[in-house]
Amino acid sequence: MDSKKKINRKISVAPMMDCTDRHDRFFLRLMSKNVMLYTEMVATKSAIHGDRKKILSFSPEEKPLALQVGGSNKEELAEVAKIAEDMGYDEININLGCPSKKVQKNKFGACLIKEPDLVAECINSMVNACKIPVTAKTRIGFDDTEEFDYLNNFIHKMRDAGSKTFILHARKAILTGLSPKQNLNIPKLNYKMVYDVKKENPNLEIIINGGITKVEEINNHLNFCDGVMIGRSIYQNPYSLIEIEKEIFKTKSSPTREQVVEKLLEYADREVKLGTKINHIMRHTVGLYHGQVGSKEWKRYLSDNMMARDSDFQKAKHIMTIVQNNEKAIQANS
Ligand SMILES: Cc1cc2nc3c(=O)[nH]c(=O)nc-3n(C[C@H](O)[C@H](O)[C@H](O)COP(=O)(O)O)c2cc1C
Repeated sequence: MDSKKKINRKISVAPMMDCTDRHDRFFLRLMSKNVMLYTEMVATKSAIHGDRKKILSFSPEEKPLALQVGGSNKEELAEVAKIAEDMGYDEININLGCPSKKVQKNKFGACLIKEPDLVAECINSMVNACKIPVTAKTRIGFDDTEEFDYLNNFIHKMRDAGSKTFILHARKAILTGLSPKQNLNIPKLNYKMVYDVKKENPNLEIIINGGITKVEEINNHLNFCDGVMIGRSIYQNPYSLIEIEKEIFKTKSSPTREQVVEKLLEYADREVKLGTKINHIMRHTVGLYHGQVGSKEWKRYLSDNMMARDSDFQKAKHIMTIVQNNEKAIQANS
């Protein structure tokens, strides 16, 4: 792999546990060639001792792709960085934003914002272990600490350790008393803090994340930051990637939903032969018709067929009928 090749992080899809697995990423790639993709967070111990093929393998079509890792043991993190490079990942990203109790107990995720020196050591050890970029995704603060100087100092330590790209989720993490879900909504978004970090550090690549849904918002953030990362709104409405391709990357031609499903079913055909369950692929398409005529029918069809335990590939073939009907309905209404 050419480790010097510049990664385009203008738009990226956020790492999301139980969402951005390899099947979802393949699906997203069918709609966007230009966005950067991230895996779900993988704990260092799972990456090192787990079933590597199952946990870390991916299709070449998913690239450019970053592996997101959770951990705070510098030897383990270095080992995972090397594994990521050897497997062909384009970037390794450390999770400094997850506030869940379990993650805190294992001393990784957002609680590490309290320990800038330890994080710097971890990053340095990863940087020394591989040639791919080592990046960090962090909240802008924790509990009562939401101060520019604290965040800026934290970023400087990581910069001095060898990282140049930072994804800033523009809200702090509350480490006690809120569930992970509440931690994605209750702490207030503070985009200005992220803009200020970029202003103060023009040579660093600063990616903004949190609550961004519309192309106009993306364009506005791009006036102040180097890139925008989007999570939930793309998962809920994956076809919005088509608008992002058109408006942000100026891509001329785009596949219809039907063409997307057709290609996904070709992938599913190959995957099912390798033992993948069809629902593990199709579950990510629930939002494909978001906001469209036929959306309800699509969801109903998926839940009746794809989520069933005995789902098999033959049922996937029938999806095409539903897709075609939906496309016809959309055309008739547009
Ligand atoms: C279901 C779910 C799972 C998530 N899992 C991860 C994860 O594995 N690693 C991570 O850094 N952030 C994770 N996040 C946080 C997102 O990456 C992102 O920072 C957050 O959702 C804010 O962006 P959004 O408002 O565009 O969704 C997760 C969020 C959701 C909703």
